Amino acid sequence: VDAALADGPLKGKHVLVTSGPTHEPIDPVRYIANRSSGAQGTAIAKALVARGAHVTFVTGPADVPPPHGVDVVSIQTAQEMLTAVQAALPADAAVFAAAVADWRVESASDSKIKKSGKKLPTIAFAENPDILATVSQLKTGRPALVVGFAAETDDVIAHATAKRERKGCDWILANDVSPETGIMGGAENAVTLISADKAEPWPRMGKDAVAARLADLIAETLATSAK
Ligand code: CTP
Ligand code: CA
Repeated sequence: VDAALADGPLKGKHVLVTSGPTHEPIDPVRYIANRSSGAQGTAIAKALVARGAHVTFVTGPADVPPPHGVDVVSIQTAQEMLTAVQAALPADAAVFAAAVADWRVESASDSKIKKSGKKLPTIAFAENPDILATVSQLKTGRPALVVGFAAETDDVIAHATAKRERKGCDWILANDVSPETGIMGGAENAVTLISADKAEPWPRMGKDAVAARLADLIAETLATSAK
């Protein structure tokens, strides 16, 4: 490890970051997924490494490469992501930036589904585990700080506030992903940090700047909560 990095404010801290989409197979050639470039999660991991953290980066198939200096764990499905996250614990903090598919195909086909007949295929879904909620609600070994994202449309703050309470995480970074914001797939993000006592809107800024501000806050919070 680079000496400059080893001296950062997150020196000695282990931070877990999930990033990218998950892919849920339908058959060997088809899958369902959420839209996610992995850019925001990658920027966050990079900012944490730059502050001296040891970062475990659990990532689905993203468009952007993982940052240097992290321990990369590559997965495809939500179930694999949960297993990888559990294996990576304990951690001082965890940031869940992945766009996890809410549903998987109940029984993916081992052989390619053919277009043969006139009948359209039907797909039965099963619900995926909620990784953020699972970690937030751990009775033992819960990271001191658990951060989620909430990509919403419409009543963004109301949805995200309810989501934070339901899942039990400490912070949620809420963003409005309505098509007219241009945020999905773009270089910028406009988030509101929701915690138990406030909703703090951050100005629209580059994903790297969001990552830097979040990493600074994580460092401050871990420093003050350390016993
Ligand atoms: N998340 C997760 N595991 C899931 C679903 C979501 O860890 N199975 C995490 C995401 O990484 C994100 C947060 O939970 O940090 C919120 O994801 P989101 O899709 O907004 O929440 P959901 O509870 O799935 O609600 P919605 O019905 O709005 O999709
Ligand atoms: Ca979801």
